[in-house]
Amino acid sequence: MNNPILIDGKVIAQTIKEEIKSEVAQLLDSGKRPPHLVAVIVGNDGASLSYVKSKEKQSQEVGFTSSVYKFPESISEKEFLETLDFLNNDSEVDGYIVQLPLPKHINTKKVIAHVDPKKDVDGFHPANAGRMLLSMPSYLPATPYGIVTLIERMGIETSGKNCVVLGRSDIVGTPMAVLMSRKGMDCTVTLCHSKTANLKDVCKNADILIAAIGKPHFVTEDMVKEGAVVIDVGIHRIEDNSEKGYYVTGDVDYNKVAPHCSYITPVPGGVGPMTIVSLLTNTLKAYKHEIYE
Ligand code: GUN
Repeated sequence: MNNPILIDGKVIAQTIKEEIKSEVAQLLDSGKRPPHLVAVIVGNDGASLSYVKSKEKQSQEVGFTSSVYKFPESISEKEFLETLDFLNNDSEVDGYIVQLPLPKHINTKKVIAHVDPKKDVDGFHPANAGRMLLSMPSYLPATPYGIVTLIERMGIETSGKNCVVLGRSDIVGTPMAVLMSRKGMDCTVTLCHSKTANLKDVCKNADILIAAIGKPHFVTEDMVKEGAVVIDVGIHRIEDNSEKGYYVTGDVDYNKVAPHCSYITPVPGGVGPMTIVSLLTNTLKAYKHEIYE
């Protein structure tokens, strides 16, 4: 049993935002324009609208220019791609994201491939994914980037450790496994998915366990090694009798698992706050042409 160290994503995210804010203030002092991040959204999905609002608010907090392009669900794929051409060609737009999911009649993979890789601050374009695989400079997807940043800023030792990633999604699990195995992180990585055999035993071998499986309280205490680092990517609203009508929890059964960990991220307040901050970091990199000449 341990008294785990809490990885406070809120505090670390705030520190990084202050760093970005002061860099933007210096840019403005030297007569330059601020970085400009655009979010593109189609339709009226409540969760997507609230994510985009949060991105807009936090962009403004660090001094960026922030715009939201909102389109009705009825927009055709062709019209939508033409809008992206406009953004790709606008020299006053440093980076943009297309909020997912898109309506079914719009091909998501086609849309992602249409974003100029230089402006792809989500890091979803095949060019950026490929560059990441080859350890070339690239925009990293926001959630994995946020997790790597948490691990680095907490000074957690990763070299030679066994890292188990639960979930192989394109935007979290798969890039997470790549990043943890790269030079600098130097973990031995196991990427688990729905067909993994002996999942409990595999997890129990993890020095670092990253849960991105999308199932509330999937990770239980019998799956966690004594002294492990546990990173919880899940965000679930569970209905209850409280005034709000729900509580927010993760992929990890926190109360049971935490006493066995050396470090653990809470939900909310762990990985979540880091995601938008990573997007802001990518936008500043786009502005400074740090990834591409
Ligand atoms: N939908 C869920 N997560 C994300 C994300 O990281 N970026 C975008 N663009 N859409 C999302």
